[in-house]
Amino acid sequence: MLSKQEQLSKLNARMTKCTKCTLRSTCSRVVFGSGDPEAEIMFIGEAPGKKEDETGQPFVGAAGKFLNEMLAEIKLKREAVYIANVCKCRPPENRDPSPEEIAACWPWLLEQIRIIQPKLIITLGRHSMERFLTGQKISQIHGTLAIKTVPGIGKQNFYILYHPAAALYNGSMRETLIRDFRKIPKVLAKIH
Ligand code: URA
Repeated sequence: MLSKQEQLSKLNARMTKCTKCTLRSTCSRVVFGSGDPEAEIMFIGEAPGKKEDETGQPFVGAAGKFLNEMLAEIKLKREAVYIANVCKCRPPENRDPSPEEIAACWPWLLEQIRIIQPKLIITLGRHSMERFLTGQKISQIHGTLAIKTVPGIGKQNFYILYHPAAALYNGSMRETLIRDFRKIPKVLAKIH
């Protein structure tokens, strides 16, 4: 039986060769995700930006710095969680990924989730929330726990957050995100 780390490595090797959409031909590298394969918490953002495309690591730019600060505040080590994105390849000029690109990348994300089996998935931003909780409004359900059965992964706990990049320069959204983030330990305790 392969370890989760070994399963992820095999998956990443397959992802590198993906041609299901055109983003792989314009990005520098695939940003698979990073962190502890045994993590209880999996954060899922939108798509890599410039810095992520350069380094191959998710959330290493300005939004990533903000995410690190919030993780530190609740005493969660970044290495102890897993961080991935809905799209693994950077869209040119940081445009939003198209519905077709998101759909093309979806099976990769499902496989990551099936390997890691997190107790809690934390969605970062509207695009990530929308994939799991279709038709919901992030302004209404941010900071709440949703339990949903998703085809391909089964029953799963979701906690909904605004995207750190969107909140970075928006005072009130920033406050809301920080407040919601501080509730993560309580949310995790509730589902144990
Ligand atoms: N924004 C995202 O959604 N993901 C990243 O990896 C970086 C910025």
